[in-house]
Amino acid sequence: MAIAAIVAGGTGSRMGSTEMPKQFLDLCGKPVIIRTIEAFENNPSISAVIVGINPDWYDYMKELAEKYFSADVYITKGGEDRNGTILNIIRYAENELGADTNEILVTHDAVRPFVTDSMIGDSISALDKYDITTAAVPATDTIAVSYDGENAEDFPVRDSLFMIQTPQSFRLGSFRSLLETVSDEERRLITDACRLFMISGKKVGLIKGDAKNIKLTYPSDMKAAKAMLEGTAEK
Ligand code: CTP
Repeated sequence: MAIAAIVAGGTGSRMGSTEMPKQFLDLCGKPVIIRTIEAFENNPSISAVIVGINPDWYDYMKELAEKYFSADVYITKGGEDRNGTILNIIRYAENELGADTNEILVTHDAVRPFVTDSMIGDSISALDKYDITTAAVPATDTIAVSYDGENAEDFPVRDSLFMIQTPQSFRLGSFRSLLETVSDEERRLITDACRLFMISGKKVGLIKGDAKNIKLTYPSDMKAAKAMLEGTAEK
């Protein structure tokens, strides 16, 4: 069994919604974050769901959880960056749920509502071989490396490039102890947990993601998500 950590501490600035952060926007009759939480609530490998929410929206999230779920959905406040939100969720799991350092945490972006049971299952089971696992899909575009946004320095071979998604899973104590070893400067640059594990010499495993497991970032992503849902029976 594993604990789901839904990271929802952001404001969604690129979505440009002035009303509320993107994780609360309506997606075919339900807030995005509710669809995401449902995927984990309904998964047999998940024992508890903890949401790390933007502090300004804590009460709103509590009301939503009460409206949509009969089982407990635990809520804590998000941090200043994504890793800070994960850290707050870890503290909550340890202090409020008695989780120990070996407990598996399946972290997932609140704004990726199309996560599947097989991604969650693979993410957990591949921890037999790796220190952290992440969903990934092969890169579809050719990728250039440029440090100034103008001068291209390299074009890595596309076959070896993957785009990283979530879920990302690891043992709860490992993340905390690795984050404690990096400087504040490094921490600012490490926006993804996989990078934290990699620079510490840990084994990072890729599991099969899906092009449909999109992260809702721009208004066009909301349109694509609506079209995907409207193509299915549920609306
Ligand atoms: N996130 C978080 N805590 C933060 C910042 C981001 O938990 N302090 C979460 C977001 O809520 C989101 C996920 O990390 O679920 C992926 O980040 P991103 O898509 O960049 O979300 P935002 O930071 O909200 O978006 P933007 O960069 O457009 O403001």
